[in-house]
Amino acid sequence: MFRPARMKWSPILAALLLLAAACKRPDPAEEAVALSPQAAKGKAMFSTLCAACHAPSAKLVGPPLSEIAGLYRTDPEGIVRWAVTPGRKRADVPPMPSFRGVRESDLADIAQYIIEAGTAAGKQGP
Ligand code: HEC
Repeated sequence: MFRPARMKWSPILAALLLLAAACKRPDPAEEAVALSPQAAKGKAMFSTLCAACHAPSAKLVGPPLSEIAGLYRTDPEGIVRWAVTPGRKRADVPPMPSFRGVRESDLADIAQYIIEAGTAAGKQGP
């Protein structure tokens, strides 16, 4: 009777797939956020342009998104203005570089992501 050799492997394969799925748990801070379409568009650009210095709730080089969301929750345009012409507020960090080369509509999408992700991170606590 014909028995394909790979049948023997299928329980092992299934176990490996389950293991892989269990290991690939997303960051809880990220998982909880249901993003608006605009914020979802901004997320990828945020990862490329801003994430090296800004994390959801930890201070990296720059302040965490939770702090930025607290400052700009009702003023996403303010984030765009800052990214084009960064100010100088915190004495213990180097100045932020300007992103004046980035389209303002893209910065607006990033700003929306920062506000939504930062608000969610702020609610979860550090
Ligand atoms: C090289 C590191 C670096 C990158 C990349 C970076 N930032 Fe910053 N950011 C900083 C630092 C440092 C500060 C704090 C500067 C200060 O307070 O003087 C800051 C502060 C901020 C603030 C707070 C403004 C306020 O009023 O307090 C906002 C908003 C911000 N960044 C947005 C962005 C956005 C949007 C991007 C990506 C387009 C970005 N940053 C990329 C380093 C960075």
